Amino acid sequence: MAYLAKSLSKLDVGEDWVASAPPGLGKNLFVLSPDQVELAKLLVEMGQSHVFEHWADPGADDDQKKALFEQVARLDTSYPGGLASYIKTARELLADSKAGKNPFDGFTPSVPNGEVLTFGDENFINFEETGVREARKAAFVLVAGGLGERLGYNGIKVALPAETTSGTCFLQHYIESILALQEASCTLAEDGCATQIPFVIMTSDDTHARTLQLLESNGYFGMQPSQVKLLKQEKVACLADNDARLALDPQDNYKIQTKPHGHGDVHALLYSSGLLNLWHDAGMKWVIFFQDTNGLLFKAIPASLGVSAIRQFHVNSLAVPRKAKEAIGGIAKLTHADGRTMVINVEYNQLDPLLRATGYPDGDVNDETGFSPFPGNINQLILELGTYIEELKKTGGAIKEFVNPKYKDASKTSFKSSTRLECMMQDYPKTLPPTARVGFTVMDAWVAYAPVKNNPEDAAKVPKGNPYHSATSGEMAIYQANSLILRKAGAQVDDPVTQVFNGQEVEVWPRIVWKPKWGLTFSDVRRNVSSSCSVSQKSTLLLNGCDIFIEELSLDGALIINAGEDAEVTVKARVENKGWILESVDYKDTSVPEEIRIRGFRIDKVEHLEKTFDGPGKFCLEV
Ligand code: UTP
Repeated sequence: MAYLAKSLSKLDVGEDWVASAPPGLGKNLFVLSPDQVELAKLLVEMGQSHVFEHWADPGADDDQKKALFEQVARLDTSYPGGLASYIKTARELLADSKAGKNPFDGFTPSVPNGEVLTFGDENFINFEETGVREARKAAFVLVAGGLGERLGYNGIKVALPAETTSGTCFLQHYIESILALQEASCTLAEDGCATQIPFVIMTSDDTHARTLQLLESNGYFGMQPSQVKLLKQEKVACLADNDARLALDPQDNYKIQTKPHGHGDVHALLYSSGLLNLWHDAGMKWVIFFQDTNGLLFKAIPASLGVSAIRQFHVNSLAVPRKAKEAIGGIAKLTHADGRTMVINVEYNQLDPLLRATGYPDGDVNDETGFSPFPGNINQLILELGTYIEELKKTGGAIKEFVNPKYKDASKTSFKSSTRLECMMQDYPKTLPPTARVGFTVMDAWVAYAPVKNNPEDAAKVPKGNPYHSATSGEMAIYQANSLILRKAGAQVDDPVTQVFNGQEVEVWPRIVWKPKWGLTFSDVRRNVSSSCSVSQKSTLLLNGCDIFIEELSLDGALIINAGEDAEVTVKARVENKGWILESVDYKDTSVPEEIRIRGFRIDKVEHLEKTFDGPGKFCLEV
């Protein structure tokens, strides 16, 4: 209540006010504590009398009335500047939105500095090696507080299997990838390094308990519990109209409806947690931010971190090639007539008009590479810790907000549903000084970006040629990436076939899956696979272990190899069996578990060969 209370000390709570109080509130004032009366007065001052309109007479619903004020007090303390500041900013931003004001007016876009990588070439391999060396000085931050409304999955997104061949969920995959980096990085260090890479997960009320439970019931997937920190973001009040009147919860009108404030909260939370200084004192240099459902990301992390280190980027945005006008934000340098500059994500619907208005009559167009020179932002960021701390000391981690109301009609006078202020993690560079080194790393989407954001129905409506970003495409992207990486490493991997699942046409590659520690970098994969390896399209290859060397393999079916920590397995095998078949399922068929039916297929494990090598020692799989 800190902020409101301060403002209220200036107010006079007299009988006149009681007489003029909104009816629902006036008759109930004696139900409330003196602090709550003060809060009520401020709500009225801020044009929020409607909150009390439906209040029952004293004696009825009194507990709910008090609970509402407990909530108001929480909303007040958890927002920098308090609820009054939130409502004031909301009114300003809503007025700008109604007027159609472009936040980038006066800025001219140009292409910033960056590195465009080709997976697997010499340059890429060098960046990967540097990145692995640097990894022991990095902390990872997963933003996982989002509601996932577009996906509509009932559980938390990080608990979804990234792919159903191994059934590994996103959180397990992320943790195993960080642990693999930790081990590889320490092996390269000459000082007997025993670093434990810190891992922070930002949660919200929607995801916190279930994220903690997922970790605890799985032994933190092999990570030390002390390595993992959960930071919970608070929600902000929803707004019902252009006057920023607080929206009441449709299920309970003694409650203010709240929604997440956006992933931009991560900066203020990290700052106030004190973790950044602890990391700095421990010699850490990088903070890597990533999102909840991108099963490809860790294939791009080592090289991107290498780019940060070699190019000395304070901010490195991971990006993918982007066709001009494609519906994905572009990374651009914006220069204002008054000298201000920033390198920032500009939404596609703002970039094209901005270019046209600043001397580029054709707007956003492809260059000789066939892509827009403004790469597509995928919202994974690598920040240099020292400069990050310096910046947050100035801003406290507050990120410039925006509002995105869905209006009922062109008059823009009412909303289809309530809105709220939001802030985005990638807007962090907006306040940086011109001396900041802000750049990007571009990598092909097949190796870096396949998020699971859309439900089957919406994904099926995505215009042809655009990514579905569904559970179906997210899983298929992993098989495609692993198949292409094996090919680049010299193996013969059959072409995919096209199939339709949940109304989405996808390429189905052989289902090749490995543990992160088996193929952390391209060099690792190349070392572990020889050119005498061939995999047919209908095949499944599951490598559960680290030291598995594929010397000769002809696979037409399903093969699972499990190798324990100290087992070194050499494969010389010809395997043919009926394999694992993908069987269509309808996403509306509720007899199928939700995490399966949202993909549109399930795996029928008809026949496979499974070999397990537990003990220490060298083994040969010869079939
Ligand atoms: P998304 O854009 O996928 O949003 O967030 P979302 O809220 O999860 O899903 P929709 O829009 O409701 O469908 C990108 C990342 O930011 C996290 C998400 O968990 C995801 O990793 N996020 C989003 C937060 O951590 N907090 C938020 O308030 C919003």
